[in-house]
Amino acid sequence: MEIIIQPTAEAASATAALMVARLLREKPDAVLGLATGSTPLSLYRELVQMKLDWSRVTTFNLDEYVGLTPDHPASFQRFMWENLFSRINIVKSNVHIPDGQAKDIPGFCLRYEQQIRVAGGIDWQLLGIGTDGHIGFNEPSSSLASRTRIKTLTQQTRADNARFFGGETAVPHHVITMGIGTILEARQLVLLAFGPDKARAVAEAVEGPITAMNPASILQLHPVAKIVLDEPAAAHLRKADYYRWVYDNKPHWQKV
Ligand code: PGA
Repeated sequence: MEIIIQPTAEAASATAALMVARLLREKPDAVLGLATGSTPLSLYRELVQMKLDWSRVTTFNLDEYVGLTPDHPASFQRFMWENLFSRINIVKSNVHIPDGQAKDIPGFCLRYEQQIRVAGGIDWQLLGIGTDGHIGFNEPSSSLASRTRIKTLTQQTRADNARFFGGETAVPHHVITMGIGTILEARQLVLLAFGPDKARAVAEAVEGPITAMNPASILQLHPVAKIVLDEPAAAHLRKADYYRWVYDNKPHWQKV
């Protein structure tokens, strides 16, 4: 794992944006895995400003709430179009977001997995982390080998996300999420985490044991995983000074 600690969320987002820009330059038909929530907002703003060519890019989002219409203000479908897709030259048919209204959820999930395979797999997967350590909506106790499927949100996640719904009671209980096994197959994982509320989950994921109780800890098993943090999210890392030194002294031939 590479742990990159930046002074602010903006600086961390700019670092991640450079990774995407380089990938799209090197592979204009790249397949990106995308995330929602507060964390990726500054990355998406940065990407919009970069005016990259998205015309051949394919995307797969991590998750969606079950039962929300695509135009619901808190749906991830709406989030993605408002914050990124409507501002770049992506082709609509290349965008994939789990269908929260699917009648046959297991069938939909199988097809989603198949679409990822047919696209050639995900080159670069963006991840956030929940305060409970979830990635996608793989809550603690999720199988570390899980595939795209329905999951039930923890109370903690529903409370964390109540701000998008105007109250906790309106937050759906169920979601469709890529599985941890699905996420692990991406060629590169980039986890962003900002703010003090994420510090404990980040420290457990990076420096604790690999455990289904902190699904993000599975990143320890991925050969190319980058964890990009602001200072507050890095506050509980015991080896933060070492990670800073490594990053500041990377050989010049190594990429960001
Ligand atoms: P947040 O969510 O970016 O809104 O904090 C992250 C997550 O739940 O994965």
